Amino acid sequence: MTRDPKTYRSAKWFADPGKLGHTSRERIHQIGASREDFMGKPVIGILSTWSEMNPCHIHFRERAEDVKRGVWQAGGFPVEIPVLSLGEPFMKPTTMIYRDLMSAEVEEVLVCHPLDGAVLMGGCDKTPAAMLMGALSASIPSVFLPSGPMLSGEWRGTRLGSGTDLNKAHDALKRGEIGAQALVDMETGGARSAGHCMTMGTASTMCSIAEAMGMCPAGSSSIPAPDSRHRAMAAQVGRIAVDLVRRDVRPEMILGADAFHNAIVTLMALGGSTNAVIHLMAMADRAGVPLELEDFGRLSETVPVLADIRPSGEYLMEDFHRAGGVPALLDRIRDHLRLAAPTVTGRSLGEEIAAAECFDDRVIRPRDEPVIDNGGLVVLRGNLAPGGAVLKRSAATPALLKNRGKAICFNSRADVNARIDDPSFELDETTVLVLKYAGPKGVGLPEWGMLPLPKRLAERGVKDLVRLSDARMSGTHYGTVVLHITPEAADGGPLALVEDGDWITLDADAGTLTLEVSDEELARRRAAWTPPHFEDKRGWAAFYRREARSASDGAGVEFLAGSDRRKDPLM
Ligand code: FES
Repeated sequence: MTRDPKTYRSAKWFADPGKLGHTSRERIHQIGASREDFMGKPVIGILSTWSEMNPCHIHFRERAEDVKRGVWQAGGFPVEIPVLSLGEPFMKPTTMIYRDLMSAEVEEVLVCHPLDGAVLMGGCDKTPAAMLMGALSASIPSVFLPSGPMLSGEWRGTRLGSGTDLNKAHDALKRGEIGAQALVDMETGGARSAGHCMTMGTASTMCSIAEAMGMCPAGSSSIPAPDSRHRAMAAQVGRIAVDLVRRDVRPEMILGADAFHNAIVTLMALGGSTNAVIHLMAMADRAGVPLELEDFGRLSETVPVLADIRPSGEYLMEDFHRAGGVPALLDRIRDHLRLAAPTVTGRSLGEEIAAAECFDDRVIRPRDEPVIDNGGLVVLRGNLAPGGAVLKRSAATPALLKNRGKAICFNSRADVNARIDDPSFELDETTVLVLKYAGPKGVGLPEWGMLPLPKRLAERGVKDLVRLSDARMSGTHYGTVVLHITPEAADGGPLALVEDGDWITLDADAGTLTLEVSDEELARRRAAWTPPHFEDKRGWAAFYRREARSASDGAGVEFLAGSDRRKDPLM
């Protein structure tokens, strides 16, 4: 049923008979609009995260024009609004601190302006979650526009995958396999177009998940950013935004329990980023959908990893798109999905993927030839992680999935950099590297979990060690890396009490992480422990540290948590 335009939010501003209406119309004329452009039309806010400090979104100025084309075609009135952009390569110590700041801005921008609907332009790591969280809280009809992956990297005749190959090259430098000039040469070919990282990092994972959750059209999230089809898709998204307003379909009506189930199934089949666990927990909280870490562990047990994409596999996002993208992947795991889930197009997820086909079985594997049978992502518990921890099994070394080794502990990234090659360390292939105080209440949950290997071991050809922390890891990283240990060290979790030489056992099949220290000894250490002191008391980062929830609850700030929806300011 189509709504009467008098019921649009924007009508409270533009159709008001008094001074508010006069001012609103006068000031929208100021941007060059005429009455025919906006009166009685759905007003669509195009929330753009364009920024020259976010090269993944450098095409968004142009794409916003394509969205406008679609909005005009459908009879809407488009207005472009910049919002905070979180450019992963440059923001330090981590964009994670700012995810909720961006979500708050999205929420406020949507609520305080005369907008009826929105197009949310995102892609680079934290931006999809921040956009969707803000739109959920604002409860305004919204569609997500995925930025699209960048083109495959190129270097000396080989294809480079974002992040993954950079780390491998730096490890090869340590082993003396390549020289320093090779790294300089790599720099120009690693990111050669607009678009987000083209490995199955956090951006590719979250954009694919947004598609599987029904927040953007089928097949949209893997279109490479410079591809002409990306422009056409942007116009389609503009038309969808207008339609959503006319049908009054709000984000919470799409992002229900079925959408989160489908998101987790998709995450597993992708061999996707561990960061998606944190973002989905935070999004579910905003949506009012109950979600537990164990939901990830449970679905991981049954869903195979089928996407053969780096860092878990071989291929890149251009290959994934050519092979059929998310619809082809979902088609292969239909039996795990809730196909009646709604999408922004008005069709169900099942209808959206009805014509899906896979065009390359090497990239999207058949069910009888998976990358991994199941358990691509493991949830761990134990006396070292009573609140849970996460391990990406699909990117780990199989031989290390059951490992007993002695701990070497670090209290900060600076400590790692200063001491990782300390010649006094007793090292072998079972050594467990431990990083503390990198959780939300520590330094804000940076992607420091893939600790560097000690040079002495790297020179002996060791390519992986078990590494533990309360940090995150980039979706482009790899290795036997246990992440998001909760409670975190800065909150007094057992991680804070680990000492050099303690025995630690990881058993991924059993889902356990055990610190082999007696309860009496841990109690003695706890009595002597003092929480870390942070000098900096001002700024958003300090506020985030004070307000942050645990990683297993989504690592959002407390005052934005919950599924209550914003009231209209003119009600
Ligand atoms: Fe933007 Fe990787 S740096 S997605």
